[in-house]
Amino acid sequence: MNAMACRQIRPIDSREPSPVTVRQALRAGAEFLAQMGIDTSRLDAELLLGKVLGCGREQLYLDYEVKLGVPASNLYDSLLERRARREPAAYITGQREFWSLAFYVTPDVLVPRPETERAVEVALRLVKMLDKKRSLKILDLGTGSGAIAVSLATELDNVQIWATDLSARALRVARTNAVRHGVKEKIHFLKGDVFGPVKGQKELFDLIVSNPSYVRHKEMQELPPEVRDWEPRLALDGGADGLDFYRRIAEKASLYLADGGCVVLEIGADMREEICRLIASVGCYSTTTVYQDYAGKDRVVVTRKLLEADRTNCEVVQGG
Ligand SMILES: C[S@@+](CC[C@H](N)C(=O)[O-])C[C@H]1O[C@@H](n2cnc3c(N)ncnc32)[C@H](O)[C@@H]1O
Repeated sequence: MNAMACRQIRPIDSREPSPVTVRQALRAGAEFLAQMGIDTSRLDAELLLGKVLGCGREQLYLDYEVKLGVPASNLYDSLLERRARREPAAYITGQREFWSLAFYVTPDVLVPRPETERAVEVALRLVKMLDKKRSLKILDLGTGSGAIAVSLATELDNVQIWATDLSARALRVARTNAVRHGVKEKIHFLKGDVFGPVKGQKELFDLIVSNPSYVRHKEMQELPPEVRDWEPRLALDGGADGLDFYRRIAEKASLYLADGGCVVLEIGADMREEICRLIASVGCYSTTTVYQDYAGKDRVVVTRKLLEADRTNCEVVQGG
């Protein structure tokens, strides 16, 4: 903790109102976090001060010259200290924006990532091509905070989503998000291992979507401290080659898909070939399409349950 930077936002006499304005507090907070090696120092200072003052980042700029009270200054200092210890800003504020929705997050769930929005986008595009005369059935494997399931539910009228996770704590967070965004009637949250919770159920799914844990064992230690030391290992660890979850999904998904149903998988940026090979080796799926994210990285794989064709191609679609 850099005492200098934080001292700047403490009042000289703690019985008096703090003389520090929002503008000064943001500057001092951002400088402190930058000195502590945080890349997103300004953004994080804004998020933390917004949390303290109970307002959004935009409001801070409208209140730029407003002075902070002593309790607010002290609380802001303590949040800056937590961030300096590499606790993710989303866990400190309890919130992260995803798909333009404010998701409740705790250390029990992966912080939803912007690249996962690409999986939501691709899933919605596929859904538009399906027959909409009946209710659409979607399965979200490893729902975590519910980022994918809740986002899809807010976009689709006639849909029922089954969202599974091995972590009961994650499911509690996901349920909270479904309630928060008014879609709890559309989502069934089930605890269990991959397809376990839907085994034996008569529903066949039009879409199976997943952002599986895909970090390779040997890469776990190389992750940034915010991820390695704070996010749930269960939400990261994909086994020795990072493909454990994909293998299990590829082997079983066709049993749970309706005719013409698709699997939408988020992938690690360097996993395209291995995953296309894996899907092809199962022999149950037709063409595999790889979508890139907006940074131009391979990010989403889509494959369709095989009807007649028995070959697998890999085609790349650029972000946009
Ligand atoms: C990478 S996180 C994705 C979370 C969320 N879908 C998202 O995109 O932000 C993977 C999720 O899968 C869950 N998970 C890990 N292994 C699992 C398993 N064997 N069965 C079901 N869920 C599992 C983790 O608890 C975690 O919530």
